[in-house]
Amino acid sequence: MPAFRSGAAARAVEKGYVVTPVSSGDCLEPIAAGGEVEPYLVCGLAMKLAQAPGVFRPTLTTRLLLEQVLAGGVAGKTALDLGCGSGPIAIALAMAGAARVVASDVMPHACDLTRRNVLVNGLADRVEVVTGSLFAPFGGRRFDVIVDDVSGVAEVVARKSSWFPDGVPLGGADGADLAVQMLAEAGAHLDPGGALYFPVLSLSNVRRILDAAERHFPQRVEKLASKLVPFSPELNEHLALLSELKDGGVIDFEQVRGRSLWRLDIYKASAAA
Ligand SMILES: C[S@@+](CC[C@H](N)C(=O)[O-])C[C@H]1O[C@@H](n2cnc3c(N)ncnc32)[C@H](O)[C@@H]1O
Repeated sequence: MPAFRSGAAARAVEKGYVVTPVSSGDCLEPIAAGGEVEPYLVCGLAMKLAQAPGVFRPTLTTRLLLEQVLAGGVAGKTALDLGCGSGPIAIALAMAGAARVVASDVMPHACDLTRRNVLVNGLADRVEVVTGSLFAPFGGRRFDVIVDDVSGVAEVVARKSSWFPDGVPLGGADGADLAVQMLAEAGAHLDPGGALYFPVLSLSNVRRILDAAERHFPQRVEKLASKLVPFSPELNEHLALLSELKDGGVIDFEQVRGRSLWRLDIYKASAAA
């Protein structure tokens, strides 16, 4: 067992976790990002994950998106986790047998935290962490599987929801800007026969995102899963404002027996064979 002097890695070892060092003699202390390492179970995969102020925490979207990606199979494939936050998707893909995973985020702080979480889970030999916006760091690099989870909620909703810590970039006024740009660029980074998985939240401009998907992946876009999600207390508090956005065609939600519900859909866009 490596001798971690103090900090989260030492506490993780005390709690009985296996913590893999970067290399002999290294310890995790210089990677300052993050608090306690906590167990996180997703899609039957048990990982350890530290969270940190200012970095997005995994949500229902993380789980529903991963369920669909894993159902499509990742063993032996190369994968890109775009908008990795604290890294749960990249770690799950590697645990599920992906040959090589790249996790990337525009926030250096999120990348530091993902790097640390990758190390804590003993996956540094298969998961690389890269800082940058969307596909900018990747040149002509291609992947079998791309999992996009960049921010996609109308800005005013994102600010009211408390899901997005201050400083996390958002998807523009209608929440669709990043998804539309991602869809325009993703095809050039997919191997023939590869697949792009992405969530679409009705708290963004769904029409704009799906039009872009159909434009760039004609007749190769399918909806894999759909879920109605009750408004959180924060969203309920701002119902009047959200109703205005709905009337303006920016977002959409349903009301069922007095409860407001937004829709989370998971899509797959396939590369040409
Ligand atoms: C909804 S969170 C998802 C985080 C993570 N996948 C999870 O499930 O916990 C969106 C992430 O996208 C990142 N992001 C926002 N704009 C980005 C961009 N232009 N390029 C790459 N990442 C971006 C944010 O920093 C944030 O970490």
